[in-house]
Amino acid sequence: MRVLVLGGTRFVGRLLVEEALARGHVVTTFNRGRTDTDVEGVEVVRGDRESPDDLARLVEGHDWDAVVDTSGYVPAVVGDATRALSGRAGSYLFFSTVSVYPGWPQEGVSEDSPVYDCAPDVGGTAEDEANWSAAQYGTHKAGCERAVTEGFDGRALVLRPGVILGPYENVGRLTWWLTRIAAGGTVLVPGDPGRPIQPIDIRDLIGFTLDRLEAETAGTFNVAAPIGHATFGGMLDACVEVTGSDAHLVWVDDGFLLDLGVRQWTEIPLWRTHPGTWRIATDRAQASGLACRPIGDTVHDTWAWLSAGQGPAAYGRQAHHGLAPDKERQLLALWAERTEQAERRP
Ligand SMILES: NC(=O)c1ccc[n+]([C@@H]2O[C@H](COP(=O)([O-])OP(=O)(O)OC[C@H]3O[C@@H](n4cnc5c(N)ncnc54)[C@H](OP(=O)(O)O)[C@@H]3O)[C@@H](O)[C@H]2O)c1
Repeated sequence: MRVLVLGGTRFVGRLLVEEALARGHVVTTFNRGRTDTDVEGVEVVRGDRESPDDLARLVEGHDWDAVVDTSGYVPAVVGDATRALSGRAGSYLFFSTVSVYPGWPQEGVSEDSPVYDCAPDVGGTAEDEANWSAAQYGTHKAGCERAVTEGFDGRALVLRPGVILGPYENVGRLTWWLTRIAAGGTVLVPGDPGRPIQPIDIRDLIGFTLDRLEAETAGTFNVAAPIGHATFGGMLDACVEVTGSDAHLVWVDDGFLLDLGVRQWTEIPLWRTHPGTWRIATDRAQASGLACRPIGDTVHDTWAWLSAGQGPAAYGRQAHHGLAPDKERQLLALWAERTEQAERRP
């Protein structure tokens, strides 16, 4: 297949390009050349998707079997791409997110859950996307989905991943945990080690994506590991094992951390107490062939990548992730006091 990737140099797009080339597809990438270098073997078109002139230059004399959009955040900008490409490409695959569901993470969601109501022509720029609120991000993505399904009616594939982990991760979630645990000592870990989690490995997401693209599937899919696929404790134990760390994990109650105002999801990456966080229904994707590797493999391979190279491409959201060392020490001291008092109580 001839595949155009709008993006292609950071995490999801980068892995997709690598795997598409490995499968023998011919790949064009379109990006500004700011985030990182392109994967060797692609045809590169430099340009800004927010510029109509650059879009016109991209499509001039070109056509593709499929477009993969990993960099769409603004509905009108995505709509411009669909209009420029509708006569030039067979299908349009849009990477959306489970954040399109206003009910998430308070409640579990399926593809039939309500999504934010956002018009497909809402404009603006994605320059500051890394600092958008979850609602702003989810609302915009819902508008982008509408732009794609209207522009490529019957030829659109919309994927809504939950948390994606693995090599090239750019957000600072598993990479933060690996780095913290590798540093060793007493490590504050949140909640219950048995808490079920369902992050998807990037390689499983990309395998599913390319299979669907090759099969010319249209429609909408949540993409996450099955509910209960892994546990928080299993993930962190794997971090200790792969880093060879002397880390001693101290499990601290959710309520204690919440009372002290510790920020869920970011200050302690991947920790979230809302009951729907890890209840994303993925039956539809599984019935279409989604297979997920054990979390231990994801942890192992992410550490191998992280410890061998330059680490993740720079991204604004990395700064929001991770517990400051001083704060971790303070919290651990307070927790030790609390547990000692509880033990002394008659
Ligand atoms: N990470 C997660 O856990 C998660 C979860 C759910 C959904 N998602 C979705 O998955 C996707 C993640 O994609 P990614 O960042 O990993 O994709 P990527 O394709 O690897 O990287 C983003 C690409 O977009 C390009 N780009 C950004 N702005 C551009 C512009 N104005 N014009 C042209 N190119 C532009 C960047 O290059 P230049 O900067 O050089 O232009 C870069 O190549 C997003 O759509 C996100 O919403 C992620």
